[in-house]
Amino acid sequence: MLISSVRSLVSDGKLQLAWRCGQGTCGACKVRLEHAGSGGMVTLGGKEKNVMIRHAGLAADSPLTIPDTPELVRLACHIQIKSDLTIYVK
Ligand code: FES
Repeated sequence: MLISSVRSLVSDGKLQLAWRCGQGTCGACKVRLEHAGSGGMVTLGGKEKNVMIRHAGLAADSPLTIPDTPELVRLACHIQIKSDLTIYVK
């Protein structure tokens, strides 16, 4: 998961990413991403969707499959790294 890959950077203060639970439930690790697949569609897990509704402004009636753009807020705890990506942190 992305949070595991950047944990040491966060601990060392090299990446200003909020991080609390590390379990995908608190919504603290909001990021935006740009990667090779950006511009396509992404299917959120049910847990990520629920946390995003509570903490990241996702509409409650959003479908699980939504456009994957750098404007989409994701949670680092739910992102599997499949290719090089650029992380934008608030
Ligand atoms: S740190 Fe809590 S959801 Fe990622």
